[in-house]
Amino acid sequence: MNDWILVGMMGSGKSSVGKHVAEMSSRKFRDTDTLLQNRFGRPITKIFELYGEETFRAHETSILQSLEPEGSVLATGGGIVLREENWTELRRLGLTIYLQVPVQIIIDRMKISRKKRPLLDFDDWEERVHRILEAREHLYQKADVIWQVDTSNIQTTAQNLVEHLNTLP
Ligand code: S3P
Repeated sequence: MNDWILVGMMGSGKSSVGKHVAEMSSRKFRDTDTLLQNRFGRPITKIFELYGEETFRAHETSILQSLEPEGSVLATGGGIVLREENWTELRRLGLTIYLQVPVQIIIDRMKISRKKRPLLDFDDWEERVHRILEAREHLYQKADVIWQVDTSNIQTTAQNLVEHLNTLP
């Protein structure tokens, strides 16, 4: 059975919505960031600090390559869309879903958790959110499903998404 794969910006709710989607659809939940942290035995910030972004990206790709489709909900790191080769793996694994969230909502969420994101641990982080999203929007749009997220809570977002996904052939 194919995975349901969530892509989108940091703070778009891939993990939190993904966990609810998994629960509501009796699917297993997995998350590329968690798999990477397990591989290194270190948090993402530490992996970036010790080895740099290129190494992080290389391992992100190899984690994807190591997965088999198993009907899971798979949350991905926000930068998974950057490498063309990752798309080969994402498409092999299942259906890609872009959680499209207005930039201001992302910024509001990041006020609490930006420090956990090495790409945003800077004074001008708000500007960086805008820049990163602008640079990536066309890549996120390559997903099979584009799901617009509004101010609804996580549970409602997940519920609506599951209902939509269940209507697909
Ligand atoms: C990244 C997003 C992060 C994590 C890493 C890089 C990115 O995951 O993979 O900090 O490039 O957007 P989340 O999207 O889960 O925050």
